[in-house]
Amino acid sequence: QPSAQPFVPEDHSLPKLRAALPACKGCDLFQHATQVVPGAGAAHAKLILVGEQPGDQEDLQGKPFVGPAGKILDRVMDELNIERSKVYVTNAVKHFKFVQRGKLRLHQNPRMSEISACRPWLLAEIDSIHPHVILCLGASASKSLLGGTFSLMRDHGKILNTPYANQVIATIHPSAILRARDKESGEQLYQFLRDDMALAWHTAQ
Ligand code: URA
Ligand code: SF4
Repeated sequence: QPSAQPFVPEDHSLPKLRAALPACKGCDLFQHATQVVPGAGAAHAKLILVGEQPGDQEDLQGKPFVGPAGKILDRVMDELNIERSKVYVTNAVKHFKFVQRGKLRLHQNPRMSEISACRPWLLAEIDSIHPHVILCLGASASKSLLGGTFSLMRDHGKILNTPYANQVIATIHPSAILRARDKESGEQLYQFLRDDMALAWHTAQ
């Protein structure tokens, strides 16, 4: 099956990972994206946030969570007085997956095989940073670190033990708030994200 493993250097320091990442052909997603999007933030962060994959803006700018979902993330973190520079933000999958519809590039969910293929990069980042806590944003990040059958609605906000990190917490993805069917469910999802982020941050200190 496809895997990034052959492209991941033995030295997991963030500069080495960043330098090696653009050469990755671990799955097919490198073919259509503008560029690969590495993680960003503190090299010794106590908390890592793991999203799904770059979106349209992230693909163009080469940075994680700089588009609409990033604005939601910024709002939550602002409210909790958490500076972005104090955490490390990355994605389960490092290339943007989309379908072209006229001028628009519509996000597509990565398959489990793509999440698994890209996992060696995520594990190398975790190995380098040694965070106290990892917060998985949404189903894809949760599948990567907590297994393909993980249920977000049932098990979000719990502190879970994994082989990769002692304390992993899953929460909803910020873009779920943007897609909420009405104001009330949007607010409820926002509360989930905020509460889980607060738990992750305080657990990490
Ligand atoms: N959504 C993600 O999961 N990650 C990003 O970097 C941007 C949007
Ligand atoms: Fe490599 Fe991940 Fe990009 Fe696939 S998505 S090519 S595994 S960096």
